[in-house]
Amino acid sequence: MRVRLLGTAAGGGFPQWNCNCALCRQARQGKAEVPARSQSAAAVSADGTAWFLLNLSPDIRHQIEAFQPLKPPQSQVRGTPIEGALLTNADLDHVLGIFILREGGVLHLHAPAAVRQALDEGLRISQVLQAYGGVSWHEPPVELEPLLKSDGSESGLLYRAFEVPGKLPRYAGSKALPGSAVGYLLVDEKTGGKLAFLPDVADLPVKVLENLADCQALLLDGTFWEDDEMPKTGTGKLTASQMAHLPLNGPRGSLEILRKLPIARKIYLHINNTNPILNASSPEYKKVKEAGVEVGMDGMEFEL
Ligand code: MLT
Ligand code: MN
Ligand code: ZN
Repeated sequence: MRVRLLGTAAGGGFPQWNCNCALCRQARQGKAEVPARSQSAAAVSADGTAWFLLNLSPDIRHQIEAFQPLKPPQSQVRGTPIEGALLTNADLDHVLGIFILREGGVLHLHAPAAVRQALDEGLRISQVLQAYGGVSWHEPPVELEPLLKSDGSESGLLYRAFEVPGKLPRYAGSKALPGSAVGYLLVDEKTGGKLAFLPDVADLPVKVLENLADCQALLLDGTFWEDDEMPKTGTGKLTASQMAHLPLNGPRGSLEILRKLPIARKIYLHINNTNPILNASSPEYKKVKEAGVEVGMDGMEFEL
């Protein structure tokens, strides 16, 4: 399985359009150790030809142009190697790209019922897209099943979703309904390579960690270094827990959990523009590396 990190910033991107915090300022200055990032998404493929997006960021147009395999095939006037997208939740930074991809054919979207409902009630996704290419919804399975291409044939990947602690987005009332956030497991049928994708988690209880057994790679929520990061940096009022993100730091933070997990590649993505790990010369970045964890970067690729 080929895996590409298309974007590694949380909602707003990095730098964020209206933010003049120290990190955003350094990114704008083009400091090499503080690279700019687009909003969180990844792409996976078993054969390098048929691709599935993991979340659909508003930066998808730029993310496609930055990655040759996602561009239209040479042989077609209009076309795409994108076979569908798996959505982990209904947050705007993970779904606004749906509108960007409206010019294609039917868009195959995999998302749990609570996410689909939020998207249809809050953003009228199905209704709006109907006037363009249209949407075909797929309920992600709870047991591994083939992930099908848009023509119904097998892609060489198996997938399943599992619930993670999270909330519906603010436009949908921030309710913690079942299935309002999920993680995905993707398995390459030939190589057995196994990827876990969890860009938004409010917590990592044992019943979530159980899903990660035998994974070779984990892409995990790296939004905040600490709980009061937004109030402390003067960038917002909400804490990490109020926004349903488990911070990295502290005895109960995700870094201490990751440190002990026997997974070869443990990579943070969905990193908020306030998180000091965005600066590769910061002590926090060093602490992540020392724990055997990686700070994801736009364009990072690996094979499983
Ligand atoms: C989040 O990850 O908490 C959301 O994307 C925040 C937002 O609404 O931008
Ligand atoms: Mn987000
Ligand atoms: Zn900022």
